[in-house]
Amino acid sequence: MKVGVIGCGTMGSGIAQVASTANCEVVLYDLNSEALAKSKASLAKVMTRLIEKGRQTEESAQAIQQRIIYSTELADLKDSNFVIEAIVENLEIKHNLFQALEALVSADCILASNTSSLSITSLAACLKSPERFVGVHFFNPAPLMKLVEVIPAVQTSSQVVEKAKKTIDTWGKVTVKVKDTPGFIVNKVARPFYSEAIKMYEEGTADVATIDWAMREIGGFRMGPFQLMDFIGHDVNYVVTETIFKAFYYDGRYKPSFTQKRLSEAGYLGRKSGRGFYNYAEGAPTPEPKKEKLLGEYIVNRIVALLINEAADTLHVNIAGAKDIDLAMLNGVNYPKGLLAWADEKGLAYCVSVMDELFDEYHEERYRCSPILRKLEKNNATFF
Ligand code: NAI
Repeated sequence: MKVGVIGCGTMGSGIAQVASTANCEVVLYDLNSEALAKSKASLAKVMTRLIEKGRQTEESAQAIQQRIIYSTELADLKDSNFVIEAIVENLEIKHNLFQALEALVSADCILASNTSSLSITSLAACLKSPERFVGVHFFNPAPLMKLVEVIPAVQTSSQVVEKAKKTIDTWGKVTVKVKDTPGFIVNKVARPFYSEAIKMYEEGTADVATIDWAMREIGGFRMGPFQLMDFIGHDVNYVVTETIFKAFYYDGRYKPSFTQKRLSEAGYLGRKSGRGFYNYAEGAPTPEPKKEKLLGEYIVNRIVALLINEAADTLHVNIAGAKDIDLAMLNGVNYPKGLLAWADEKGLAYCVSVMDELFDEYHEERYRCSPILRKLEKNNATFF
């Protein structure tokens, strides 16, 4: 298969590596020749590391690199069967690119975008044959993260969705099908992981280190919410939250926080700027968590209940199936358990009671229990 990848930044370079590792001939196209040279050099480094770790042989590493052609000419994508775009997040620029591409490639070439925040339908709309367009949302770093969300636009043909899904499955990825809605599965369902942690911190329920400790040690998450926000960067994480809040017509459930906005305004972006919720300067003291079991359990139960509620509501409005929602959170953000399976394990009556108690206390939209949780609980049913 001949794969075209457009944009050789963080995502495009990773996607090109994934496709080439799966034996596809890849053309990686970017406007910027320096960026291409950088991408090529960084793949060489990655391959050296993989050889050292015994994960690739010298021979296969060579072949992976040789299967990628680096190009500044769009015309080199002409023979592609599948093109994945990963350029700047700008609708007009992407429209111009896809129109030029449609005029170049054959009629059966699938056109796809890796966009995180634009609607797939709005991208497809610029094409003469919008049924050939599909969203394929990889996670960073693409070679390591297993999940790819496959998002049909309103116009996409079912054959195109299935073909894109099957192709990416053969690349060793876990694909899930998602309706074209803001944040798809992962970026929507994960919101409470951050927002409920910030809320508890703002209200003085616990400090940052304690909340992180609880989520890691009691909740089983790989990173605490503040650690993870510092890692992602507050500029990026805040914008995702705000975009989803606006895109869901200002549903109070996704309300962003001033705390994070201020951090972002201050330039305290997290690890990359040396300071975020934590201070990463040399010799800065590491805050000690209060390792109180009851407090820790309260924190975990509250955040996990909101995550479960968000996952349930994602099912309720048919954004994706239950199995795919759980696969997405396991493989896109490495959650310790699928959220709906976790709900079954905790008992739906318990999940409903946590939400209702919080709603009674706050009367805020964020604690609105999803109708599907309540309905299943009433019928003594489970998600699986
Ligand atoms: P990036 O900024 O690292 O790379 C973008 C690349 O596109 C640059 O090399 C730039 O020279 C090139 N480019 C810009 N305009 C172009 C054009 N008209 N034609 C050809 N090349 C062009 O961006 P990144 O982070 O890799 O994101 C790319 C896309 O992937 C965006 O749509 C983003 O929403 C999406 N995405 C990003 C994720 C992330 O964690 N960074 C995760 C999942 C999706």
